[in-house]
Amino acid sequence: MKSWGEDLWEAKVNAHGDAGVIFGTGHRLSSVHRQTRTEMERVDRLLLKRIPAGSSILDAGVGPMARFSIELARRGYLPIGLDISTTTLQRAKAATARAGIAVDFVHGDLVALDLGRTVDGIFCMETIFHVPAHLALEVFQGFHRHLRAGGFALIKFAILERQTVYFSLCQALYLAAFAILRPVLRFVGRESFRTTVVRYSTDELMDIFERTGFELVERDGDMFLLAARRKVVSTK
Ligand SMILES: C[S@@+](CC[C@H](N)C(=O)[O-])C[C@H]1O[C@@H](n2cnc3c(N)ncnc32)[C@H](O)[C@@H]1O
Repeated sequence: MKSWGEDLWEAKVNAHGDAGVIFGTGHRLSSVHRQTRTEMERVDRLLLKRIPAGSSILDAGVGPMARFSIELARRGYLPIGLDISTTTLQRAKAATARAGIAVDFVHGDLVALDLGRTVDGIFCMETIFHVPAHLALEVFQGFHRHLRAGGFALIKFAILERQTVYFSLCQALYLAAFAILRPVLRFVGRESFRTTVVRYSTDELMDIFERTGFELVERDGDMFLLAARRKVVSTK
């Protein structure tokens, strides 16, 4: 049986291309490249200063450009790029080949993570908030099973308290435009996709971490650096 979301992400990458998958329809590659640079500053400071080059890092939801795996490999790490979409993985492989970078790729679902090995680090950007909220505990249990003792996980969330009025207004306009345009696009033979963004409050996140055996080491806005603390105490 296919994983939840697999068909959607497969269709999305075919219809919208790299920037459309990463940021949403209508975005340009130039803004993706700009964001990669600024986010890597945070990744360097939060995660990479704590784990030595040569360590294995799972890039969970690697995406069609494998942009963070490429940056990790350039810094001497051993990325494992996981994605639910086979087309995305093909594009990611082509991107790493163009960059002359070696990355291990795995087809898999964050909700039923099974790499058959542990890793020194876990890295998840622009992806966790697309997983439905009721599956979040499974994702974090999987992360906990795969992170070796002493390793770190860096996860970027969509945070409820950080949603501004301006963003809410833009979102409302976008949803209205989507509702109107979707039937029109369908009529002219074009499909449009909108993926969920699950926003968590900080309290909800702390509860997920507690239940799945993680502790918060450091936070920078929407990025949380976690360490595997101990065995899972509760999965409810
Ligand atoms: C918004 S893109 C971000 C890609 C990449 N992290 C980046 O920032 O460039 C989300 C990616 O996660 C993948 N994805 C979504 N749900 C997934 C799941 N349950 N398991 C594995 N990958 C998933 C999608 O196929 C897509 O490539």
